[in-house]
Amino acid sequence: MSAFWFSEPLLAIETSCDETAAAVVRGNRVLSNAVASQIEMHRKWGGVVPEAAARAHVEAVLPTIREALESAETSLEAIRAVAVTNRPGLVGALSVGVSAAKAIAFAQGVPLIGVHHLEGHLMSPWAGRDPVFPHLALIVSGGHTELVEVRSLGEYRTLGETRDDAAGEAFDKGARLLGLGYPGGRRIQEAALGGNPKAYPLPRGLSGETVDFSFSGLKTAVLRLVEREGESIRVPDAAASLQEAIVSVLSERAMRAAERMEAQALTLVGGVAANLALRERLSAACARAGLPLFVPEIELCTDNAAMIGLAGSFRLARGERDDWALDALANAPLPE
Ligand code: KG4
Ligand code: ZN
Repeated sequence: MSAFWFSEPLLAIETSCDETAAAVVRGNRVLSNAVASQIEMHRKWGGVVPEAAARAHVEAVLPTIREALESAETSLEAIRAVAVTNRPGLVGALSVGVSAAKAIAFAQGVPLIGVHHLEGHLMSPWAGRDPVFPHLALIVSGGHTELVEVRSLGEYRTLGETRDDAAGEAFDKGARLLGLGYPGGRRIQEAALGGNPKAYPLPRGLSGETVDFSFSGLKTAVLRLVEREGESIRVPDAAASLQEAIVSVLSERAMRAAERMEAQALTLVGGVAANLALRERLSAACARAGLPLFVPEIELCTDNAAMIGLAGSFRLARGERDDWALDALANAPLPE
């Protein structure tokens, strides 16, 4: 195990959005990764309702922590630190995890570390291995679409980002318009399996040599398509065309940014990294360019606590600690 990582077992907690998650991590090894999803509850409303999310976290947080400890075959007494997502996210939801983490760290007399949710995603490909630098990370989730230059762990520079919707939102809104429901990304992926990606031409957003993104035109175009085609719309074709529009733009811009910064590797992280078409497209492009690609296992793509544990492990190894004043923050930039 290299000096990048905290070598003792730590408990990680993540409650920033609609998953209550807990994990046990040691160094860069994920010993357990428990997730209690609220998707069924939010499906009824077609999206995440903050009040309901916070209440559900309160109910799920202790059982999920217990499950993470049990499946790692360990106990609270053996835990040597607690890492928790404290920013950014829904404040009510984040506070549940932060309070639980403080209580456990205080009672056990071990250090507490607050983790930025996106830094968790950035760490997710390095489970079980040491990172490669400098690398480019394509972060694609429900709230973010960014190309980040990672010069070393904790040293980030945003090269490109979305000017409006995130890629995950484009999937989710498209799915809603096509009547596929929530959560949209996986529904689009499944519907697209039987469709022709060239059936409906959809806009690609910004043109030219940019490494930024724009997905709001795509959403409008899908709305127009639904209005124009009405009942006769071929949903698998529309889903495949939508997925193709998103995947092609993401991979084209990522390859352009990787070349510009002379990246030694590319990572694909965030909930949308679970998309199989995107994983395949980037892996083919990277193979052609001779660029190593690191993609987390599917369970580490969508929100989880293992990635928070990896980020906490790295910060604890550098000697960082937080005190009992650690706060939940709705908005926060990536740490420098
Ligand atoms: O990282 P994440 O779990 O939560 C945020 O931090 O936002 O990302 C959630 C996003 C949602 O927009 C969801 O539709 C998308 O990831 N997603 C997918 C897939 N699985 C999840 N998008 C496309 N294809 C998938 N298979
Ligand atoms: Zn996330």
